[in-house]
Amino acid sequence: MANIIDGKQVAEDVIATVTKATATLAEKGVTPGLAVVIVGEDPASQVYVASKSKKAKACGFHSVQHTLAADTPQADLLALIGHLNADPAIHGILVQLPLPDHIDAGAVIQAISPDKDVDGFTFVNVGRLGTGEVASAFVPCTPAGSMLLIERERGRDLSGLSAVVVGRSNIVGKPMANLLLAANCTVTVAHSRTKDLPALCRTADILVAAVGRPEMVRGDWVKEGATVIDVGINRIPAPEKGEGKTRLVGDVAFGEAFERAGAITPVPGGVGPMTIAMLMANTLVSASRAAG
Ligand code: GUN
Repeated sequence: MANIIDGKQVAEDVIATVTKATATLAEKGVTPGLAVVIVGEDPASQVYVASKSKKAKACGFHSVQHTLAADTPQADLLALIGHLNADPAIHGILVQLPLPDHIDAGAVIQAISPDKDVDGFTFVNVGRLGTGEVASAFVPCTPAGSMLLIERERGRDLSGLSAVVVGRSNIVGKPMANLLLAANCTVTVAHSRTKDLPALCRTADILVAAVGRPEMVRGDWVKEGATVIDVGINRIPAPEKGEGKTRLVGDVAFGEAFERAGAITPVPGGVGPMTIAMLMANTLVSASRAAG
């Protein structure tokens, strides 16, 4: 039976370290500043953004939130990003995705200064990670947090391990694969067109599921002793809890995978809390760089 990886605890450790370092940086006269921008009223995005702003305050950051109407013209959003890029009190800019359809998300992301791109989505930071310049990159928060959990579990030397990443998104799958490659894993990225996905997953010492499909990865897809990182957060009906009730599940059938894995992240309480913690860590790094 697997060790259950306590992402909530690791995230709390990261936040405690960031909070301490923020106090030290304040002695130099620098307070990390994080600007979070949300366009429209997507309920899930509102919850995420509120918790990012709240956590930034708890770390001792200067935390600002810009809430724009759903019909905000793209030019207005680009103008706001221009102001934030130029504001010396702001070290991190996060534009919550998804954006409304009339806005070109790519154009907005690329307008963020790479020096303040704490999401790690600009071409400069993607390029740094892709060329193995991990130390100088801002790494997207969910894969960065997943990597920390993997290293805590398996140690820092992942050399030669076989890693399978299921999902090829720009936010999780691709940067996760690049991080594992930079750590000398043998990496395969699987996606919806992959043939015989169960057999491929069974080759993985490290299996990362990031597809957004509830409980897709079954127990018999998991190699005995593998480290399983479940990035999925899916809300599904839970009639057993009462009419209309729901519950959260990951992309992995936890009960089944638990029987075979060496270690596995739960949902909730695994990767989820790490995402916000790594956003705080990235913002602190940005402020430290600005402080010189
Ligand atoms: N929407 C879902 N995940 C993320 C994320 O990591 N960053 C941003 N900006 N938006 C998201």
